[in-house]
Amino acid sequence: MLDCLSSEAIRLVDSSECAERIGKGQATRYGGTAREACRAGHMLRKGVRVFGSVRQAADADRLQKQLGTERFTALQFDVTDEKAVQQAAEKVRSALQGRKLTALINNAGIGQIEPTAVCSLDKAKRVIDTNLTGTLICAQAFLPLLGTDSTLTGPPGRIVQMSSVLGEAPVPYQAVYSAAKHGLEALTACLRRELAPYGVKLVSIRPGPVSSEFWDKIDWTQYQGTPWERGMKNTTDLVSNSMKTAVSCEAVAGAVYLAVTEPNPRSVYHVISWDGRVAFKLLSSLPPWLVDFFWIRTLGRP
Ligand SMILES: NC(=O)c1ccc[n+]([C@@H]2O[C@H](COP(=O)([O-])OP(=O)(O)OC[C@H]3O[C@@H](n4cnc5c(N)ncnc54)[C@H](OP(=O)(O)O)[C@@H]3O)[C@@H](O)[C@H]2O)c1
Repeated sequence: MLDCLSSEAIRLVDSSECAERIGKGQATRYGGTAREACRAGHMLRKGVRVFGSVRQAADADRLQKQLGTERFTALQFDVTDEKAVQQAAEKVRSALQGRKLTALINNAGIGQIEPTAVCSLDKAKRVIDTNLTGTLICAQAFLPLLGTDSTLTGPPGRIVQMSSVLGEAPVPYQAVYSAAKHGLEALTACLRRELAPYGVKLVSIRPGPVSSEFWDKIDWTQYQGTPWERGMKNTTDLVSNSMKTAVSCEAVAGAVYLAVTEPNPRSVYHVISWDGRVAFKLLSSLPPWLVDFFWIRTLGRP
């Protein structure tokens, strides 16, 4: 039996059906909107036990009712709360009864779209805390269960990090989010190398735009009447356009499922439309002056 901890249960639980529908290695091509059809219990029926974390008690109750108690355990914690994460790790340890955990999926994340020069520092700290520090807190708490505790039995586990294509090519007006995801990529690469002797594998998932509630939670302050008005307007137009080719949550969940179950997972899974993949490949590999030129032309001057 596989035992996984996800920082957002439904995404992981959705994934098995996606993996089944799209077949091995096809995650990036899946663009359908079969979310309704993706029954949350599917992965559970395949024999995977899921410890899914949420922040609100109401969400924990709802998921527990929806998914049953046999193979799904809701845990309640904020990824930035060290004590709460540690307590959750203890609960998972006692549930596993001496066995290792198969995978930790660090999915929690929030965005920020603002001019960097004047952005809210409180928001910026929350973005770094959630997307970067939170994953370190979770990794440290669950690493003994994944493989560094030699008293536990079973094969070593994996850590699946929900990064972004902004983790390989930073995007203006999303500087803090880009920095957090770049930091996550660095953390992931170093952990992969440090944990190799324990057999613990690290996998980074890099989605492009995804149709999810992520964008609804961003405060789209327009900065009207400020020198940043044009840049922000062009940025919001760019994001709206990119959402036309957004991938589904199920596609991302499919990649997570592959990262957890493939015998030899890749270090990185991209989940993005082909044209988005080409654009981000260019943005991350062209000379900086050319990328600067592109962004200055695209976003305009005040
Ligand atoms: N949407 C995109 O276009 C996109 C693209 C690339 C990468 N990503 C990444 O994908 C991941 C999932 O995002 P999503 O698109 O599925 O957005 P989402 O629907 O907003 O999901 C984000 C999840 O993270 C949880 N969360 C936020 N802060 C948390 C904290 N401090 N502690 C614990 N949980 C926390 C949220 O919980 P609540 O429900 O309690 O708020 C929510 O369940 C993020 O890491 C994001 O950076 C998203």
